Amino acid sequence: MVCDLYDDLPAPTGRRLVIADIRSPHSESIARLKHALVAARGAATPFLYLFHGSRERGEMHATMLGATKSLPAMTAAALLAGAVADLTGAAPAVEPDSPAKHAQAARRAFAAIFTGEAPATELVDDAAEIVNRAARDMKVQDWLNLVAAFDDITHRHCLTVAGLAAAFAATLHFNPADAHFLTKGALLHDIGKSKIPRAILDKPGPLTVPERQVMNQHPLIGYTMLEGRGFSDLALKVVRSHHELLDGAGYPDGLRGPEIPDVVRLVTICDIFAALIERRPYKAPLSAPDAYGIMLKMVGKLDPDLLRAFAPVAFASDTETMPLSA
Ligand SMILES: [Fe+2]
Ligand SMILES: [Fe+2]
Repeated sequence: MVCDLYDDLPAPTGRRLVIADIRSPHSESIARLKHALVAARGAATPFLYLFHGSRERGEMHATMLGATKSLPAMTAAALLAGAVADLTGAAPAVEPDSPAKHAQAARRAFAAIFTGEAPATELVDDAAEIVNRAARDMKVQDWLNLVAAFDDITHRHCLTVAGLAAAFAATLHFNPADAHFLTKGALLHDIGKSKIPRAILDKPGPLTVPERQVMNQHPLIGYTMLEGRGFSDLALKVVRSHHELLDGAGYPDGLRGPEIPDVVRLVTICDIFAALIERRPYKAPLSAPDAYGIMLKMVGKLDPDLLRAFAPVAFASDTETMPLSA
């Protein structure tokens, strides 16, 4: 049941959950909400407070109102449904055995990130959580098959890299916080491509030298987009440096070995592997063993220990059954 705080009708009673969503909270709307909550909430009724804008202010209002839980109003639908299910003790809306739903939820969340503007950090956190949850519930190959059917090349690529990163984190027994961080970096790594002209991004053939020069600006563009927007230095490094190689032959800064943090090296491995196994308009996908074999020959460029650790993910990612797309 939906109620307007300003319609002066009595608040409903006997609800299993109360959710409030106030776009611009001020003293009067908060006072009205407080009043409505007294009537609508029983002693054990959970209350979910959705806030717009600043997290600090939203959480302050939530505490003041005695909320059971607070979330940004822009939280991805799948996570919101999960929170509602947790609070009411109902079965989660996204079934653990529903890979297609996971992939669709991740795609919607990613589309909200990849707009050409800097995304809110909360949006990226939501998307990373969806991908990590999917990695727990399905095989990496199933994820790759689902994502391969998406029509947008860049969405497909970033979700492929994110799925591989989540699987890699699981293989390396990362704790949840580190797994979340790695997946987030993978989702963001090509954010700068959101400002590259579509004619170059989706060109159905190899790029010319000038086009390649434009394309190769995407790490710096992404870094500039996200700098000063609440992302950690390490996340910014993933975006800026994911095309750097240990021998200094990468771009944009020509970094060498120790200058490239581990998390960047991990994303780089997932990124290169994804590019090799993906079908592009101008190239057929390589099989997982062929792709991994090529990477093993990139001696001196990729971290050999991490590449060895990536083998279980690579060999679980056989794409021979991937559907044809684009
Ligand atoms: Fe890239
Ligand atoms: Fe990439």
